[in-house]
Amino acid sequence: MSRGIFITMEGPDGSGKSTQIALLKEYLEKEGYDVIITREPGGTKISENIREVILNPDYKEMSSVTEMMLYTSARAQLIAEVIGPAIDSGKAVISDRFVDSSLVYQGMARGLGVEKVLEINKLAIGDYMPDVTFMLDLPAETGIARKKDQKELDRMEQESLDFHRSVAEGYRQMAARFPERIKTIDATLPIEEICGIIKVRVKSLLDARV
Ligand code: TYD
Repeated sequence: MSRGIFITMEGPDGSGKSTQIALLKEYLEKEGYDVIITREPGGTKISENIREVILNPDYKEMSSVTEMMLYTSARAQLIAEVIGPAIDSGKAVISDRFVDSSLVYQGMARGLGVEKVLEINKLAIGDYMPDVTFMLDLPAETGIARKKDQKELDRMEQESLDFHRSVAEGYRQMAARFPERIKTIDATLPIEEICGIIKVRVKSLLDARV
């Protein structure tokens, strides 16, 4: 059985990841893949419970280290229960956020350090690094404004504009660090155009496998 494919979607809050994930799923299914969609933090019973703790706006006292470890724990469980088995059985997995979120939000915006966060995450991830990551780039102000219109803001979204600016900047630095894996796309482009860019990249990934 050949290994499946693992695609992750990243970007600041409100950058339109869910829409693109749904479109990419359709495309991969047409290409004959069994597609599993998952989100972080979450995607398993344990991880969804951890998510409730992490995002609860009441827990303002949460330390950055606690936060990072909780995200990593939710990820470890998702890999063990869902992503790992799916990839091993040849399926395509699309994850709404993955380790780059921790590298950027906790490693950079919270200041814990990218290397440290990556090292700890290696324990959770093992071999399951994404084949390709799409980063939907959006000015921090636009993302948060979009979210505010949709729902009550969670603990992370309630962070200062400066925090969200360093997230957006952190993603740009991450893309420069992993240029082979991370493809940055301007999230202000029309939906169909973004989807077209994603399909071209995924097609070249699929073509390289045959
Ligand atoms: P969610 O509502 O899923 O965000 P979005 O719709 O913006 O994708 O909330 C997840 C929040 O957690 C989001 O603000 C990003 C943050 N996060 C981290 O800080 N570190 C991580 O490792 C992950 C996966 C998410």
